[in-house]
Amino acid sequence: MTESLSTRGSWGSKVGFVLAAAGSAIGLGNIWRFPTVTGQNGGAAFVLIYLGCVLLLGVPVMIAELSIGRKTASDPVGAFKAIAPNSLWKAVGGLGVLTGFIILSFYCVVAGWTLKYVLLTVSGQFVGGNPETIQRTFTTFVADGVSVTIYHLLFMALTVWIVTGGIEKGIEKASRILMPTLLLLLALLVLRSLTLPGASQGILFYLSPDFSKVDLGVIMRALGQAFFSLSLGMGAMITYGSYLSKDDNLVSSALYVSLADTLIAFLAGFAIFPALFSVPDLSPTVGAGLIFLVLPNIFNAIPFGQLFGAAFFFLLAIAALTSTISLLEVVVAYFIDQRGWSRKRSALLVGLGAFLFGLPSAYSNGSVSFLDGFMDAVFLYFGEISLALGALLICLFTGWKWGVAAALEELHSGYSYSSRFVAPVWSFLIRYVCPIAIAIILTSIVASYLGA
Ligand code: PHE
Repeated sequence: MTESLSTRGSWGSKVGFVLAAAGSAIGLGNIWRFPTVTGQNGGAAFVLIYLGCVLLLGVPVMIAELSIGRKTASDPVGAFKAIAPNSLWKAVGGLGVLTGFIILSFYCVVAGWTLKYVLLTVSGQFVGGNPETIQRTFTTFVADGVSVTIYHLLFMALTVWIVTGGIEKGIEKASRILMPTLLLLLALLVLRSLTLPGASQGILFYLSPDFSKVDLGVIMRALGQAFFSLSLGMGAMITYGSYLSKDDNLVSSALYVSLADTLIAFLAGFAIFPALFSVPDLSPTVGAGLIFLVLPNIFNAIPFGQLFGAAFFFLLAIAALTSTISLLEVVVAYFIDQRGWSRKRSALLVGLGAFLFGLPSAYSNGSVSFLDGFMDAVFLYFGEISLALGALLICLFTGWKWGVAAALEELHSGYSYSSRFVAPVWSFLIRYVCPIAIAIILTSIVASYLGA
């Protein structure tokens, strides 16, 4: 083990890394956000575009981020500095660190909602309830800024506590058992949801595409959601890759992580939409409350639903935690590597900052009227557009500045099978397809804002 690896921490095993990176990717983005944006953007056509974005843009960018990270064994800013010293490229790392900080700030607010829902469900709040009371519970809670803030704080504190413990002990252990359990519970929910009355209408909404509803906005949302869900475009995978060892296979790691992430999101849609259409007066476009309004109805329709529901929200909170850990880790790695701060100090101060920055989001769902929609807006700018921009710059950097030859050399360490197919396809995607597609979508979005 090299000096830098042993002082920075590293992954205990290949499986440990894949699970932890999947832990970063799998979170609220899959189970909360994916059904929410799918519902708001017309269903199946959005899902198809999303899948295209994951495969053609997400996977190649993930491979690029992992290889930049492992090559440089550094935080995002240090990584760009190491490969392109004395250049402006380090600003891409800086944008990533800033974006990570802002995503962390509002992400913890919603993660706090899931903690509240563990308590609500386990205490039997929803037992015997109907869609109306379920809806009232949600709106009353999110409009109570003080209690939302308490859960937000609690969630941030948990994240800080784990990140302070270091790489191996904290992150890896938690991911090992809990992520597979979440998958199992989700699969059981899907089975129940598919057999509820009215389910077929939901399946139709989810699987039968109507491309007439697709416009630029829909494509942008799909692109942004793909990067958000895969934790790309801000250096999370650069940071995680920096703890990888030279004999890990980056290509298969990226494929496993993307596959697991996409599978969970896809399943979440199967859990939500069939059940949604069995609830009268609930529309797929309700927005941020979607899963909190739909899921308690399913729990009420299954034996031991109270326990099952509590377990589900608990695992969702854990999935969110493995994502907030990675968000905080990016910013903390920056302060450790670039500013020489201790891990403890970085985690505490960054956590405190993100908590404070998250307050307007905590008060933006009905508590303070002039903040209404604040969280949605920050989500759009930082959770989607900024990630897409970051991903675009990472493609340009890898394909044209660092160069595919050097990147491939990094990829080839730990990658023993013949690369006749992978290398040329990846090089073509990262140099041409990804940057051109992302640039077109981003510029048309900006143009449409300016024109409006
Ligand atoms: N991918 C995470 C999720 O889906 C969120 C995240 C985004 C984490 C960017 C890290 C970086 O919940």
